Amino acid sequence: MTCHDARQGRVSKVQVGVITIFPEILDAVAEFGTIRRAIESGSLGLESLDIRDYASDRRRTVDDRPYGGGPGMVLLPGPLASCIDAAKQRVDGPVIYLTPQGERFNHAIARELAELSGMILVCGRYEGIDQRIVETRIDREISIGDYVVSGGEFPAMVLLDAVVRLLPGVLGNEESALQDSFSNGMLDCPHYTRPESFEGLNVPQVLLSGNHQEIQRWREQQAFDWTRNRRPDLIESSSRLESENETDLNTVDNHQ
Ligand SMILES: C[S@@+](CC[C@H](N)C(=O)[O-])C[C@H]1O[C@@H](n2cnc3c(N)ncnc32)[C@H](O)[C@@H]1O
Repeated sequence: MTCHDARQGRVSKVQVGVITIFPEILDAVAEFGTIRRAIESGSLGLESLDIRDYASDRRRTVDDRPYGGGPGMVLLPGPLASCIDAAKQRVDGPVIYLTPQGERFNHAIARELAELSGMILVCGRYEGIDQRIVETRIDREISIGDYVVSGGEFPAMVLLDAVVRLLPGVLGNEESALQDSFSNGMLDCPHYTRPESFEGLNVPQVLLSGNHQEIQRWREQQAFDWTRNRRPDLIESSSRLESENETDLNTVDNHQ
């Protein structure tokens, strides 16, 4: 078990246990960027548990061939169950299995998870985990998209990074998470930095004007146009939500 919690004795806002056969991947990620900052500031406690530590043989076997035949191997239920049970002794929260068969991860789920005091992330490998573990130990299954990667470690880190960005005090500038794509149902607007002219392309004049109201209006318009062109589904679902809310309010009014 590797525990990253720089400020011993200080209570982390979110305690995360990651169950994996490659704890080194998590250890490396914990050394960089937002996740490192979250650990150092005490907002995140990150613990990786190696499934091999819970194997029952000297060779630390964690996988076997699938019943019924077919290609690939499956993670054995025994060591994985013991590893999850050990994590549950230390971390309070749902056990989440990263799997292509889960609900598709998005900003709303990241927000929901950022409210929790902890969670346990289970990383599969090979063909996946024994279904009996899903039935007895897993509370939620989450996918990072409709494609398959070789293990759950990167999906777990994608989820964790998205959650940690939403924790108060983790990003340098509190407002930057609020301006990111999806936070208000839209994509972000385009960004520019120095120099004013690059390979013949100029920064839009309004951004140099110093007029903050105009700049804000321009950014909102750009965000709206980009969203309409690239992801019209986001606008459709936010107007559907708005009209549902209005209907709900009218229903409440009519009943008063
Ligand atoms: C090679 S994949 C197994 C894929 C599985 N046989 C299937 O087709 O659904 C090995 C592990 O990678 C992880 N994984 C792969 N793709 C993923 C995705 N899109 N989202 C979340 N986890 C994924 C899961 O933990 C999975 O158990």
